[in-house]
Amino acid sequence: MNEKPAGERKERVGKKWDYRSITLTTVASFALLCIYYLRFPNLSFADYGEKLLDPEAILLQSLEVNLAANWSKKYSAEAHLAGTNYPLVEWTEEKFKEYGFDTTIDPYEILVSYPKDHDLKLLDSKGKVVYQAPLQEDVIDEDPTTHNDTVPTFLGYAASGNVTGNYVYANYGTREDFEKLANEGIDVKGHIVVVRYGKIFRGLKVKFAQDLGAIGVLIYSDPGDDYGLTPANGYEQYPKGPARQESSVQRGSVQFLGGEGSAPGDPTTPGYASKPGVHREDPHTSIGRIPVLPISYREVKPILHKLNGHGAKIAGFEGELEGFDYSTGPSKFELNLYNEQDFNITTLWNVYGEIEGEKSNEVIILGNHRDAWIKGGAGDPNSGSSTLLEVARALGDLKKAGHKFKRTIILHSYDGEEYGLLGSTEQGEYFAKKYQREVVAYLNLDVSVSGKNFNLESSPVLNELLFDVAKKLEYPKGGSLYDHYVENHGGEKIRTLGSGSDYTVYLEHLGIPSVDMGFGGGKGDPIYHYHSNYDSYHWMEKFGDEGFVYHNLCAKYLGLLALALSEKEVIYFNLNSYASGLIEYYNKTLEKIPTGWLNQSVSSLGLGKFDLDEYKFIKEVTMNRYVEPMCRMMQMRITSGCEDPETDSDQSLEGLLNHTYHQLKFLSNSTKGFDLASKDLQFRFETIKDLPFWQRIKLHFRIKHQNLALKYFERNFLHLKGLHKRPWFKHIVFASGRFTGYAGQNLPGLNEAIEDADFERFVEWVGILNRKVSRVANRLLH
Ligand SMILES: *[C@@H]1O[C@H](CO)[C@@H](O)[C@H](O)[C@H]1NC(C)=O
Ligand SMILES: *[C@@H]1O[C@H](CO)[C@@H](O)[C@H](O)[C@H]1NC(C)=O
Ligand SMILES: *[C@@H]1O[C@H](CO)[C@@H](O)[C@H](O)[C@H]1NC(C)=O
Ligand SMILES: *[C@@H]1O[C@H](CO)[C@@H](O)[C@H](O)[C@H]1NC(C)=O
Ligand SMILES: *[C@@H]1O[C@H](CO)[C@@H](O)[C@H](O)[C@H]1NC(C)=O
Ligand SMILES: *[C@@H]1O[C@H](CO)[C@@H](O)[C@H](O)[C@H]1NC(C)=O
Ligand SMILES: *[C@@H]1O[C@H](CO)[C@@H](O)[C@H](O)[C@H]1NC(C)=O
Ligand SMILES: *[C@@H]1O[C@H](CO)[C@@H](O)[C@H](O)[C@H]1NC(C)=O
Repeated sequence: MNEKPAGERKERVGKKWDYRSITLTTVASFALLCIYYLRFPNLSFADYGEKLLDPEAILLQSLEVNLAANWSKKYSAEAHLAGTNYPLVEWTEEKFKEYGFDTTIDPYEILVSYPKDHDLKLLDSKGKVVYQAPLQEDVIDEDPTTHNDTVPTFLGYAASGNVTGNYVYANYGTREDFEKLANEGIDVKGHIVVVRYGKIFRGLKVKFAQDLGAIGVLIYSDPGDDYGLTPANGYEQYPKGPARQESSVQRGSVQFLGGEGSAPGDPTTPGYASKPGVHREDPHTSIGRIPVLPISYREVKPILHKLNGHGAKIAGFEGELEGFDYSTGPSKFELNLYNEQDFNITTLWNVYGEIEGEKSNEVIILGNHRDAWIKGGAGDPNSGSSTLLEVARALGDLKKAGHKFKRTIILHSYDGEEYGLLGSTEQGEYFAKKYQREVVAYLNLDVSVSGKNFNLESSPVLNELLFDVAKKLEYPKGGSLYDHYVENHGGEKIRTLGSGSDYTVYLEHLGIPSVDMGFGGGKGDPIYHYHSNYDSYHWMEKFGDEGFVYHNLCAKYLGLLALALSEKEVIYFNLNSYASGLIEYYNKTLEKIPTGWLNQSVSSLGLGKFDLDEYKFIKEVTMNRYVEPMCRMMQMRITSGCEDPETDSDQSLEGLLNHTYHQLKFLSNSTKGFDLASKDLQFRFETIKDLPFWQRIKLHFRIKHQNLALKYFERNFLHLKGLHKRPWFKHIVFASGRFTGYAGQNLPGLNEAIEDADFERFVEWVGILNRKVSRVANRLLH
């Protein structure tokens, strides 16, 4: 390793070890060894590398029984909005307990809103009511979930209000859509905006409309976004066929997730945990002030028809709503939009179940949320909850069979994901230090089944493992799960994470490698009624996953993944995939740079200034104060080098970019060597019996050292001050898009500066990337 920390490091570089220190080292190691032996009596070195039982086989055997349908039925039988249905919290805890996990119920006090009343009227030019929308989904005889006790149609955190005004159709309500309207001279100020679902997170549609002075928003589902699976094309609606039920309404949160100025989690406690008695802030940086309602395409028809012939027709604004010519308005008619909700600080409950491993400071977390917008929620989130319980059952069987887990595995069942990743964010903030020290990886489930196409989104360190595990399982329609994935995604391509589920706090706030997985709809799959009453057990059983075979496959996949992460002696990460990813994102970014920027001088911009706070911050999240001294003693140097990019007096941006590119290549080189070392150490561990005693001890510490570097690798890409205008988002490589919410933005600092045409900020972010990359690359070099 190329060691170069500030201050005290000179002394040790190149220093030869004398006999005294070798003796000391030996004695100390021996003592440590004894302690280890005493602590884990059944982990005698003689057993190392020996397979006592085959955990994979036991896990898969256990999942030959499939109880996913049972759990799905249970979870989708009663409404379970965030902060409600405590019996389901207790039931989940009991299940974890039954399967041998130590459990905790962890409460938080969070601002949420519940529906109280709503109304939507269409008024003619004389103010006469010509239509009143029922704002209800139809009861369907065959589907018991729709019969009674359903949750009203509403949007979480939509402000209470009663507004009347003319209205404008604004397509998907993206920033570009509002710009196009402005270009046509159409101002939404003082109007109600009607937008369709799609493209970006719904809360940002509301944010953009509110920022432009709109007084209310109506959001509907357009058949044009149903991939041709529409009645117009001859498909029958649910429950008779695969098309969308015309009365179906998508509920959801209108928090400003990922937008500038906002943070996920409780909007009154940005960046810190909502435990009782904490200081609370005005939530309106993260939630809106104007009323918003969701509506079905059947009920929005009479409203949008009144726009025909009024205002502009803009290319790209067309959907497939019968009888609507997609004119923008403003309308001659008026809408009266009324929304009433209770905003309350409410108790939300996370449930945790833990099986402690031998390495209890190396933790794998498997998480899924429990709350749903509707009574059913067979897909969102109960498919995930059922999958998680199946994994719990299988891991429990493994424990029962006498298997000792190497790493700790913790299952999380979160509350309040739907409103704004509440439960996961608050606990992530509460346990931030502990998680940064201990958590190796976070595996997320949300909608684990809503179709038959397997999707993965991940931090690239996990890519190799994800493919490896997919090769071990069969896909129901033939071939392996891997074959299916590769065919469907045009190769070994795994997208990076954006936002919209509980991994956000782990990856983007804490720098913990994360993955999200699930089977989603694709060509030919029936329409999934997202956040509607028709996301019911009946739909799942009849259309989504007959026999619950994809639930079962997802449980097998997640179970094997957790096992591979917990049971390999050397943490199963591939760092070179990460470096390759970085080069790819970097190259893509450089394509967008205005040509005028390249020859501009960057030397006067204070680039590469050593920042002590930043240094301390990274040191804190990437070092283990107990293990490092031990590794040092074992002659393995741990560096904390903070390299500044070379800034000669008249460097141009192009020069700095070239230098950064070389740093990235350098990282790619050092990760290659590092990954080989990981494989070699794992191999040597598996054949440890052939090694002499002294070699075994040495191997033990080398692996410990390797695992530390692996565990903390991703933390190195955190930036103390966070992203521009989004300080909560601390990851410099992965963030949710500030204008999209769900979709990921790679290298957000660089890309946002380009979007904003801000040269200085761009240079600052190149400097940040450059420093971090060179530091990590140096640390990994042996
Ligand atoms: C699961 O459901 C099936 C069918 O309803 C039932 O026969 C079985 O007893 C249930 N098993 C458990 C463990 O609940
Ligand atoms: C809801 O309907 C089901 C039958 O579909 C019935 O068994 C149940 O008692 C009803 N619940 C209430 C509260 O009316
Ligand atoms: C909302 O405002 C309208 C018109 O201003 C009024 O007629 C109606 O009664 C109000 N609704 C409620 C529930 O206050
Ligand atoms: C919730 O908030 C409303 C006002 O928004 C208030 O009237 C009501 O009493 C609160 N309910 C509880 C349980 O705190
Ligand atoms: C990135 O760009 C460099 C220089 O333009 C090129 O040599 C390299 O092949 C590119 N790498 C990737 C992964 O696109
Ligand atoms: C950069 O190049 C452009 C022409 O491409 C030239 O007009 C400009 O003066 C140059 N700027 C600097 C700082 O050299
Ligand atoms: C940067 O790299 C490119 C291609 O690798 C080269 O053509 C260019 O001269 C370099 N610019 C500077 C300022 O080093
Ligand atoms: C990467 O390694 C190769 C061979 O090991 C070497 O030729 C190349 O110069 C290295 N590149 C960097 C940027 O370190």
